[in-house]
Amino acid sequence: MQPINSTEKNPLSSLDVWEDDLLERYPDPESIAKGKTTEEYRNYETPGRDSVREFYRLNHMYQTYEFVQQKRAEFLPFDKKEMSVWDAFDFLNQLVDDSDPDTDLDQFQHLLQTSEAIRRDGHPDWMVLTGLFHDMGKVLCLFGEAQWAVVGDTFPVGCAWSDKIVYPEFFQLNPDKDVEQYQTKYGVYSPNCGLRNVHMSWGHDEYVYHMLKDYIPEAGLYMLRYHSFYSQHREHGYDHLMDDHDREMFKWVNLFNPYDLYSKNPTPPNWTELKPYYEDLVAKYLPAKIKF
Ligand SMILES: [Fe+2]
Ligand SMILES: [Fe+2]
Repeated sequence: MQPINSTEKNPLSSLDVWEDDLLERYPDPESIAKGKTTEEYRNYETPGRDSVREFYRLNHMYQTYEFVQQKRAEFLPFDKKEMSVWDAFDFLNQLVDDSDPDTDLDQFQHLLQTSEAIRRDGHPDWMVLTGLFHDMGKVLCLFGEAQWAVVGDTFPVGCAWSDKIVYPEFFQLNPDKDVEQYQTKYGVYSPNCGLRNVHMSWGHDEYVYHMLKDYIPEAGLYMLRYHSFYSQHREHGYDHLMDDHDREMFKWVNLFNPYDLYSKNPTPPNWTELKPYYEDLVAKYLPAKIKF
């Protein structure tokens, strides 16, 4: 792997640029059924598009099987920091968008809008909690990680890349293209082995899944772990690695996705009013301190 300079670390003016771009690609919840979205998206041009392209170029070039193993070894021991939940949200909010501080809500507001939209629809309280935490893994940026190693669509490593992944042409830059085993349909895996046996590209999804895996029900853990796996939950590019249990659990991932993507609203929720509910919810499921 080549050394990474600072422009390669942060090609986007903020992490939100990636999420705004997802909205261009999947403009409405029904785009899951239309099948044409990806092509329309590829032909769509906006001023922000170049930085998003560059972001995916770097993501697809550097997210190798080996890179994923390195990051797992680095971050999954959870020996970096220990914080209370509320300190953790303050920490996450240090991730500010310096290019455009007025128009974007902070990270906590996005989390709260997601969880409130879930609550409004009467879903179980652990799903509300999942909404509140789903992007906590973005703290990886505050540990010095590059944007393309924190956000972006995730995908399996160690097997052939689906052409349903956004900007698939950039995988030509990934050294794994020269590893014969990684280029077969199943790669290091076996047919319908189940996603629990599959290594995903490294980012905030995998990290927050491991952070909370002992505390919330399995359906919530699937939402955390696979919420950026658009090439499967929207495009079905990896049915051949899924088992029946994954298929059952992905109903929850699909239920969750619109709350993440379409709950953004310029008006921040009233935190003072909501605080007591969330303090009880957090105390019900989580320990006093969380490890990072
Ligand atoms: Fe996310
Ligand atoms: Fe999100």
